[in-house]
Amino acid sequence: MDKNILVTGGAGYIGSHTCVELIKLGYNVIVVDNLVNSNAVVLDRVKQITGVKPKFYEADIRDREKLEKIFEENEIDSVIHFAGLKAVGESVKIPLAYYDNNIYGTIVLLETMAKYNVKKIVFSSSATVYGSPERLPLTEDCRLSTTNPYGSTKLYLEGILKDLYVADKSWKVILLRYFNPVGAHESGLIGEDPKGIPNNLTPYIAKVAAGKLEKVNVFGNDYDTPDGTGVRDYIHVVDLALGHVKAIEKINDPGVYIYNLGTGIGYSVLDVIHAFEKACGHPIPYVIAPRRPGDIAACYACADKAEKELGWKATLGIDEMCASLWNWQTRNPDGYNTKK
Ligand code: NAD
Ligand code: UFG
Repeated sequence: MDKNILVTGGAGYIGSHTCVELIKLGYNVIVVDNLVNSNAVVLDRVKQITGVKPKFYEADIRDREKLEKIFEENEIDSVIHFAGLKAVGESVKIPLAYYDNNIYGTIVLLETMAKYNVKKIVFSSSATVYGSPERLPLTEDCRLSTTNPYGSTKLYLEGILKDLYVADKSWKVILLRYFNPVGAHESGLIGEDPKGIPNNLTPYIAKVAAGKLEKVNVFGNDYDTPDGTGVRDYIHVVDLALGHVKAIEKINDPGVYIYNLGTGIGYSVLDVIHAFEKACGHPIPYVIAPRRPGDIAACYACADKAEKELGWKATLGIDEMCASLWNWQTRNPDGYNTKK
């Protein structure tokens, strides 16, 4: 295999795990990332795991000149597009930065791809486009809506990619709607490295387990769920990465194809805390706190379409998610800034 895959945001959490799986299968991986939310050390770690360091361009995808240089210098077969800002709360505070980065950045990328006649793209969408779920489990045809600027960027970008295909039927587009990516590579060399205090549940639990934060705040126990706490479809990041490999393998027919990438299983906040206690071997202190504004009670996928059409199915369960995250946390107490 000598296909060149351009991975935007390839130094990030999901991107780095996807680079590993692509390299393992013999793809040539080229990463473009401006490191706004990542660390160049990641690429050395990818080399430690795979023996190959991806070719790296430190550039912003909004920088047309730099992007064109990448397409000039490499014969790109297809693009996996992860680059984007992703913090829901931050997007409410600085919406224009989100629209500029995510939407304008993607437009520059798509224009550059068209210019170099590269018309295969796998795009990181999100379960956030389902807003408050019409029904559960969520199927790809469920009603779409969003409640914050981050989610709106994903929904608009899905629409932009659909419009692009309507205008030029040679585009091959796969939209992957991720549920809640968690965990880390089994080596403990790459993982999620949020800046500051984590917003998301599992990195927060990991910091509490490591004694860096005092206790987990469980945001609400009065939801209409089995134990009253929020239910989500957590998916191991390595399974998610493998979903991208399948998408790259199947991206041969023009059109826009949409897939949920989830396990189909919903776990509550308390389920996750208890699974993590098993992984780390000691109790995790927690308190019940008020609901977090904007949260929904439950969200989980029907992932049958991805299984049927992509031949992909998540195989790693909640215990593997927690164990791999704990392994990453203990080996890298300060993330990629940990001094070895
Ligand atoms: P991440 O922040 O770890 O990775 C994104 C990467 O993109 C980072 O390395 C960042 O430096 C880079 N980047 C951002 N803007 C850029 C720009 N303008 N030019 C070049 N590089 C840029 O996030 P992640 O969790 O790996 O998410 C990857 C993608 O998946 C994002 O598009 C995100 O919205 C989407 N997604 C994530 C989740 C999740 O919970 N992690 C869920 C659904 C969808
Ligand atoms: N939660 C807590 N305490 C915390 C953090 C979270 O109880 O400290 C709860 C939340 O209320 C929710 C669950 O844990 O019930 C999961 O919350 P996360 O913040 O980890 O994830 P979300 O489901 O809110 O959102 C994530 C991403 C979004 C993405 C969405 C769907 O952050 O970007 O999954 O893919 F859109």
